[in-house]
Amino acid sequence: FCDEVVERLASVKTSDELTAAKEQIHAHTSPLAVISKAMRNVPPDDRPRIGSALHQARAQLEAAIEVAEGRVGEQELNARLAAERDDIAHYLHPGRLQGAGALHLVTQTRMMLEDLFVGMGFIVAEGPEVETEWHNFEALNIPKFHPARANQDSFYLNYGDPESTLLRTHTSPVQIRLMQTRQLPIYAVVPGRVYRRDTPDARHTPAFHQLEALVVDRGITFAHLKATIEAFTTAYFGPNIQARLRPAYFPFTEPSAEFEITCTVCEGEGCRTCSGTGWIELGGSGMVHPKVFAHVGIDPEEYSGFAFGFGIDRLAQMKVALGDMRILPENDLRVLAQMRGVL
Ligand code: PHE
Repeated sequence: FCDEVVERLASVKTSDELTAAKEQIHAHTSPLAVISKAMRNVPPDDRPRIGSALHQARAQLEAAIEVAEGRVGEQELNARLAAERDDIAHYLHPGRLQGAGALHLVTQTRMMLEDLFVGMGFIVAEGPEVETEWHNFEALNIPKFHPARANQDSFYLNYGDPESTLLRTHTSPVQIRLMQTRQLPIYAVVPGRVYRRDTPDARHTPAFHQLEALVVDRGITFAHLKATIEAFTTAYFGPNIQARLRPAYFPFTEPSAEFEITCTVCEGEGCRTCSGTGWIELGGSGMVHPKVFAHVGIDPEEYSGFAFGFGIDRLAQMKVALGDMRILPENDLRVLAQMRGVL
């Protein structure tokens, strides 16, 4: 019996098999139990001999059980660790790569322009997108019946109220806010979103971005305006581009000028004028109008200033030769991916 059981113990592979083998050894019907039970019928003289044989057999079996338990336990632990390592490996499996986002082309352009003006000593300021009629028009000397004030050009929030508010149609109202709140002198640029009720086409979207520049100081002349426009267009477009001013009219500047740059396309070695006159308009500019100074209580005898404003989206479009402005607010991922870090 003992040899048979020892052999069985040596070959068990699982703790279930081991338990079954132990049951066989400890069962009431096992030869060991049967012999123990029969001891009382053994003559007293023979008991010590049989008893110690029984004891030896038991000790041998218990030792074999212990060895088998150790072996099976270790096997099962290893198997479990192997299984759990598979689990861990599963958890450590690298996640799906989420493509990192990128700055929108308009944001890249805005930041580049901000850096450029900060380098010239300007501060960057902001103003509200929901603006009062007074700041957007009145204070900028845009009279009540000026075409720019017509309801069809602007998005009013409460048209007809004495306290009308609207989505600002340009960044120029921030000129007023700056002059009302800042100490002089002022050298500031104001980037921001503006809104007009335009029908979207290749060159227009109803929401777009402008950058306004305002300088107010003693002794500011038209030459400062021209030099600043030249400096920033050269810095933005490169030294091969020329800038020029053309007489224009804005109610809040006098004299006023539109500024234009030469437009060239370069392919390989050769460059040529891109279209029409070879000049494209970028924005409006001029010397701050005395009536504007009057609205904010600045003495035009002591101070003078210039302002200009242009479309950031348009500048972005020119830099990357974008055919249609309407793609800019669409945020099509295929387009966004191509705009990554282009400036
Ligand atoms: N606000 C004008 C526009 O939106 C541009 C401008 C700004 C003109 C500053 C003169 C001075 O067209």
